[in-house]
Amino acid sequence: MKSALGFAVLVVLIIGALLIFPGRKWPSLPDDAAHRAASTVDACKQCHAPGKAWPLKPSHPPKFSCFKCHKAKNKE
Ligand code: HEC
Ligand code: HEC
Repeated sequence: MKSALGFAVLVVLIIGALLIFPGRKWPSLPDDAAHRAASTVDACKQCHAPGKAWPLKPSHPPKFSCFKCHKAKNKE
């Protein structure tokens, strides 16, 4: 039961974040081979995770569902 409540709180926070963040600018995906090839969050994390080639800043907003915010330039 506790975890269900935790999940509900998390969902509310995510929705809240998605409502607030549209006011902020995020970079679109670089138009290069690595980013055209990556189509899943797991793929992104091959490089954008702690200890990998290009870790996200600690201040980065939610570290999942990358595509909710970051879109390829040619797919907008
Ligand atoms: C092969 C490694 C690799 C993979 C896989 C990868 N990235 Fe990247 N990403 C990089 C590198 C290195 C840079 C910075 C250099 C550049 O701009 O190309 C970068 C830059 C970015 C930027 C732009 C940052 C800026 O300040 O302009 C975004 C956004 C981004 N990646 C998101 C993603 C997302 C979302 C995915 C999954 C679809 C992903 N990346 C997959 C290596 C990777
Ligand atoms: C809620 C929207 C949102 C989601 C979801 C999101 N990002 Fe971001 N991202 C941003 C914003 C906003 C920035 C700019 C942050 C800044 O300038 O401080 C950013 C910046 C970046 C950058 C540039 C370097 C950095 O850390 O600021 C990369 C790379 C990146 N995101 C990759 C990803 C990856 C990979 C995922 C999925 C694991 C992801 N993002 C999910 C909003 C988002």
